[in-house]
Amino acid sequence: MKKIVVALDGHSSCGKSTTAKQVAKELGYAYIDTGAMYRAVTLYFLEHYIDLTNPKKIQEALANIEVTFHRNPKTNRNEVFLNGLNVEDEIRTMYVSNMVSEVSVIPAVRRAMVAEQQKMGKRRGVVMDGRDIGTVVFPDAEVKVFMTADVETRAKRRQEELFEKDQLVPFDEIVENLKKRDHIDSTREDSPLRQAEDAHLLDTSHITIDEQVEFVMRLVDSKLAHL
Ligand code: DC
Repeated sequence: MKKIVVALDGHSSCGKSTTAKQVAKELGYAYIDTGAMYRAVTLYFLEHYIDLTNPKKIQEALANIEVTFHRNPKTNRNEVFLNGLNVEDEIRTMYVSNMVSEVSVIPAVRRAMVAEQQKMGKRRGVVMDGRDIGTVVFPDAEVKVFMTADVETRAKRRQEELFEKDQLVPFDEIVENLKKRDHIDSTREDSPLRQAEDAHLLDTSHITIDEQVEFVMRLVDSKLAHL
C-alpha cells in the first residue's frame, strides 16, 4: 500500500506527540518528534556554553551534533540520542524548555534540522510533529493537521507530565513558558508557526486523546482510500 506523510503542527503541549505516537502505531509508521531534535541541539548548546550570537561557533557546534532516534525495548518508545547518549529525560526539563525557542529561531539550526527531517521522511511512511512540518519540511504532506488548545489546558497537561517525571513546577511558571514559546515560535522570521492553508484545524481543549487520534485517522483513511 502507498505510504504517506502525516504532518501534525501546532502550539506547545496541545497533545501533538501523544496523538502522533498513537497514529504512527496504528499505521505502522515511524514517529518523528521534531521538537525533540531542537531540544537536543539546545541541550548541546547549553552544555557547551555556545554563544547564540556567534554564527561561527554555531556552525562549528552543529557540525559536532548528531541527533538520532532509537527504540527503547523496555518502554517500546523511540527515544532521543545526542551524539550516542540517551537524552530523552534531560531534554524535557525546564532548563531546556526555557531556551529551546531562542535556539530554534537560528536559521542555521533550522536548516540543519529540516534537512535531517526531510531525509527521515524521504520514503514517506512517517508521522511528524512540530511547528513547520506542513509548511516547510513537507509542504506536500498528504495529511496536515494544525493543533491548538487554550493555554490553561495545555499548562495543566504539561504540569502533569512533568510531575510524572518527579519535576514539580509551579503552574504560573509553565503558563509563562508556554506563552513565551508561542510568541517566539509564531513571530520568528524563519519558518514561523502558522497553519498551512490546507491543514485541518483541531482544537484539543475539550476533547480526549482518543478523539484526537480518531480525527487524524479519519483524514488518513480518507486520503489512503483516494490514492
Ligand atoms: O514540540 P516541543 O514543545 O517539544 O518543541 C520545542 C521547541 O522546539 C518549540 O518551542 C519550538 C521548536 N520547534 C520548532 O521550532 N520547529 C519544530 N518543527 C519543532 C519544534
